[in-house]
Amino acid sequence: MKIAAGQCRNLRGVSVPSTLKIGPFAVDPPVVLAPMAGITNVAFRQLCRQYGAGLYVCEMITARALVERDAMTMHMITFDEGESPRSMQLYGVDPRNVGEATKMIVDENLADHMDMNFGCPKSTHLQQSLLAA
Ligand SMILES: Cc1cc2nc3c(=O)[nH]c(=O)nc-3n(C[C@H](O)[C@H](O)[C@H](O)COP(=O)(O)O)c2cc1C
Repeated sequence: MKIAAGQCRNLRGVSVPSTLKIGPFAVDPPVVLAPMAGITNVAFRQLCRQYGAGLYVCEMITARALVERDAMTMHMITFDEGESPRSMQLYGVDPRNVGEATKMIVDENLADHMDMNFGCPKSTHLQQSLLAA
């Protein structure tokens, strides 16, 4: 069956626009690599890009660690030269840290797209009060 330009078929076979837009960014193909702590680092994203997706979210970044410019966190927010848009997931429990980290990301142009993690029911995260859930 023929597919019109700019369209693709979803899992039910329905023709849908092939381009997802997030603000000014076209996510084409409309496939997103979900953020995975300890997994979606720059090397993993590069590997996945070879198979094609539209948006690759980096590892979860702690707002407080970013504000404090923790060395490991600064390393984790490194994007490859060709990565566009640069997508960063930010999480935190203190609104002041989240606000400050967001300002830092904007002021220092550290990312193009932000994914906010406001809660995760994972028991280890809850025990450490890492997330907002
Ligand atoms: C190892 C691992 C780490 C993950 N880390 C995060 C994370 O840091 N932030 C987040 O929002 N979700 C995290 N997730 C959840 C994934 O982003 C995703 O939402 C989940 O795997 C469900 O994906 P699916 O809907 O494609 O099945 C993680 C999942 C896995 C398996």
